[in-house]
Amino acid sequence: MPSPPTLTAPADAFPVLRTEIAGLSVNELAEQFGTPLYVYDAAKIRERIGDLRSFDQIRYAQKANSSLAILDLMRRQGVLVEAVSAGEVRRALAAGYKEQGDPPPVVYTADIFDRESLDLVLSLGLHVNCGSPDMIDQLGERAPGSAITLRINPGFGHGHSRKTNTGGEQSKHGIWHEQLDDCLRRADHHGLVVTGLHLHIGSGADMEHLSQVCGAMEKLALVAGRTLQLISAGGGLPVPYRPGESYVDLGEYYRLWDASRKRLEAAFGHPLRLEIEPGRYLVAESGYLVSELRAVKRMGTNTFYLLDAGFNNLARPILYGAYHPMSIVPRAGDGAGRTQSEVVVGGPLCESGDIFTQTDGGFVCTRSLPAAAVGELLVIENAGAYGAVMSSNYNSKPMAAEVLISGGQAHLVRKRQSFDDLVRGESIPAAE
Ligand code: LLP
Repeated sequence: MPSPPTLTAPADAFPVLRTEIAGLSVNELAEQFGTPLYVYDAAKIRERIGDLRSFDQIRYAQKANSSLAILDLMRRQGVLVEAVSAGEVRRALAAGYKEQGDPPPVVYTADIFDRESLDLVLSLGLHVNCGSPDMIDQLGERAPGSAITLRINPGFGHGHSRKTNTGGEQSKHGIWHEQLDDCLRRADHHGLVVTGLHLHIGSGADMEHLSQVCGAMEKLALVAGRTLQLISAGGGLPVPYRPGESYVDLGEYYRLWDASRKRLEAAFGHPLRLEIEPGRYLVAESGYLVSELRAVKRMGTNTFYLLDAGFNNLARPILYGAYHPMSIVPRAGDGAGRTQSEVVVGGPLCESGDIFTQTDGGFVCTRSLPAAAVGELLVIENAGAYGAVMSSNYNSKPMAAEVLISGGQAHLVRKRQSFDDLVRGESIPAAE
């Protein structure tokens, strides 16, 4: 019998020394583009898209990384896109997505319409996935007769952090499952046709919770009835960030969803499209935040490695206590034989929480890393999802440059911000 696929990241999955990314020298990339620098490996993204091809449609949750270059890559691979704001809709269009099509290339999924997004969605005739009863009314009043899908909160959820669990009573997301009937009546009242249901229970969820979603979908879909043409499994697929963490068994995951889809097809007597809507899974492992070690200092028993990248560049550790693998890039050679020691890794910001090695609740911890000298590079890995998109200009730091490596070439896909970019739109009132 063939052995089951290995889903757990092995102990050596995250080497602590690195000289290249996608075949290019990290030192040369840093020299050419400066640091802090986000580097993405296009091949990794294509590989991850390939993993999910059994689903009828992959719809990329661009909130994970909405770089135009990455959206363009997704589009060329036949991946559709989800947008949560007018800005994300515009990004999708700027990357070449069409406004309309079957299935809709761009879907607006949110819990509210702000005024701008409602106007934009209506003017473009975009498909909307409604996450609140009010959205149904607001859309129905202005565009009666449209097709909509509903995002349902099934009453349970799961995520890698409480802050990324999007199900249950503590979550603001989706339409509460017990209100589905009421929402169907609202839709009827406006002549809206509910063509699909969507469930997304959280980000970084585990298989146990993800697999419960299919059952919830079946029950809800039977309530919604025969107007449905689509069911969406949402996103949430985890990726391992450290040894021992696992991928979901995608074959098994697909089988569960496909079985639910088939039972519903039998009940409705017509085919249903099965979508999946990942963000993290497609891009997390493609991304590297390259930084320069600028100071090594001791505080009592702790050694601090201080980088030129901070939580302005990657907020996941300070927000969720998220763990990211890290590696040192030797200035010369491969670094073999360097001793390893426990260090705290932090950034340049004027705030104590600017630490990349911390656990949930802000407790500083250490990481075993090879000895490194000021001026050498440290790479924070698995940073392609919710990295650059969540960065800020705190402490008046410019957003980092971003590079996409594709076909062995490094393409600058976002310039580092300048001081002019930082103060654009600001003004000083004339003296009184
Ligand atoms: N669909 C919907 C409706 C979502 O709200 C999300 C994520 C996704 C799909 C994609 O989820 P994914 O496949 O990436 O897990 N900033 C957090 C994650 C927030 C996720 C928000 N919604 C983090 O850094 O972990």
